[in-house]
Amino acid sequence: MTYSELYDLALKTRENAYSPYSGVKVGAALLCADGKIFTGVNVENASFGATICAERSAAVAAVTAGEREFCAIAVSGTMALETPCGICRQFLMEFSPAMDVIWRQDGELVVKKLNEILPAGFVM
Ligand code: THU
Repeated sequence: MTYSELYDLALKTRENAYSPYSGVKVGAALLCADGKIFTGVNVENASFGATICAERSAAVAAVTAGEREFCAIAVSGTMALETPCGICRQFLMEFSPAMDVIWRQDGELVVKKLNEILPAGFVM
């Protein structure tokens, strides 16, 4: 699957976002090292802190299926800039610091390494 197709999948997936509080719809499509793809959406909750972002939803689904190595994640959202939040960057870095992160900006796809957009992420 090309990065453009991965982005389109994230865009399509975001239709399923559950976001009655913010109204922001986010979809993520995560490409694993073995070629499998997992999707996720943001799922909000009346207890706001219980909300999970689309990127972490996708990563949780992948890890649940036994995946530990990620190649790329595409993010599509109705927010101003379609990039993963800091928590999601840290969450993904646990597994694959050098993975690609893809979003659309000014009509073009942007591809950055996770460790470029999360320098000096926390490790133990
Ligand atoms: N959100 C994501 O799904 N991913 C991000 O990286 C940033 C924020 C969601 C969480 C919440 O449902 C809404 O966007 C507004 O913050």
